[in-house]
Amino acid sequence: MKIAVIGTGYVGLVTGTCLAETGNEVLCIDINEDKVQQMQQGEVPIYEPHLDVLFERNIKAGRLTFSTSLEEGLEHGDIIFLALPTPEDEDGSADLSYVLGVAKEIGQKIQSYKVIVDKSTVPVGTADKVTEVISSETNVDFDVVSNPEFLREGFAVDDFLKPERIVIGSESEKAINLMKKLYKPFVRSGNPIIVMDERSAELTKYAANSFLATKITFMNEIANFCEKVGANVDKVRMGMGTDSRIGKRFLFPGIGYGGSCFPKDVKALHKSGIDVGHHFDILNAVIKVNDVQKKILIPRIESHFNGDIKGETFAVWGLAFKPETDDIREAPALYIIEDLLQKGANIQVFDPEAMPNVKRKFGEQLTYALNKYDAANNADALIICTEWSIFRTPDFNKLKTLLKAPVIFDGRNLFEVEDMQNEGFTYYSIGRKTTK
Ligand code: UDX
Repeated sequence: MKIAVIGTGYVGLVTGTCLAETGNEVLCIDINEDKVQQMQQGEVPIYEPHLDVLFERNIKAGRLTFSTSLEEGLEHGDIIFLALPTPEDEDGSADLSYVLGVAKEIGQKIQSYKVIVDKSTVPVGTADKVTEVISSETNVDFDVVSNPEFLREGFAVDDFLKPERIVIGSESEKAINLMKKLYKPFVRSGNPIIVMDERSAELTKYAANSFLATKITFMNEIANFCEKVGANVDKVRMGMGTDSRIGKRFLFPGIGYGGSCFPKDVKALHKSGIDVGHHFDILNAVIKVNDVQKKILIPRIESHFNGDIKGETFAVWGLAFKPETDDIREAPALYIIEDLLQKGANIQVFDPEAMPNVKRKFGEQLTYALNKYDAANNADALIICTEWSIFRTPDFNKLKTLLKAPVIFDGRNLFEVEDMQNEGFTYYSIGRKTTK
């Protein structure tokens, strides 16, 4: 099939590349000329595991091409994916200006029947708005489908190629059949393609992300309570998670959820509720608790240093909002670093992938280490913000010689408390007792 993907961010690029992988001819469109040029030369503009291999293969095969022209995209594709940003507006709602702007242009340039697919996370009612905007510009026949993505950064290629489900929101038989044909190769294992109306599809994405954010936040509250009553959240997590109604996943407490999706989507759903007179009390609580959780280590750090951290040096391991990505959007590490800097501390950071992004944000305010040990050199304590695998098995003796004192604030519970006690560390973690 012939596909155009408008917008080559994480979602658009993964969608385009993976659709090319099953033999479709995919033209990816982006307004950023430098980025398009870079992609035409075979360079992947983001870090996402396995994407580079598929990218190269499909470019070589001539199935994956790039352009800055929306008109070309419309000429090429029978199905036009919109993978445009929907950033958070000042009031928490999703900003639809990119999506509706492109919709208008599509209306002005469309020549024959197209299926326009909303891949971006958009509030309920957006498919109707897109339809309205296009219709106001043209009489050419088209359908708008809501097809939310459920891709996790770091696993996006795998998630796209082997999805647990595909959600198609449409009431047009013609569009539904085309979408089913497109996705058939991805659900050979028997995972479902769930067809529903556009509004339900749009809400499915927000409901799923908000539920997961709530699950994590609930566990963070349990962890904080564990500390107060002397329980161990690891044990509680296992005791709870083995109940199949609860499930083991997304129960890991830490320094809050971040990233480009959860914070924005929870706020947008909450705001959508307000707009129609529905108050999502539960989401209000999730937003509040997560804001506090992101900085939960700060009071511990301050109290360890008797209330004054001015002039102290901290090593920070992990800057990305989670492992296997270079994405630092809403990363808890940034909130911690900003706070510590403000209080006069020195920071030495290391992350396997996110250093360039952090450098762009913080410039000379931080010291950028070559590796995890370099970051720890001469630091007064180590703070762990992201659970990259390479942080899981450090040489503790080496760490002890590098740090001025054996002190770790672990925001991701990487180590066993008993092991850290035996290694002789003062070890703070989340929802477990502190060793001194
Ligand atoms: C998420 C959804 O999982 C995906 O389906 C959607 O399409 C986009 O948003 P992503 O943002 O890539 O994906 O990250 P995810 O792996 O879901 O983690 C989100 C945040 O929750 C991270 O900050 C992570 O550290 C945190 N998290 C996750 C926890 O704190 N504990 C957990 O148990 C799981």
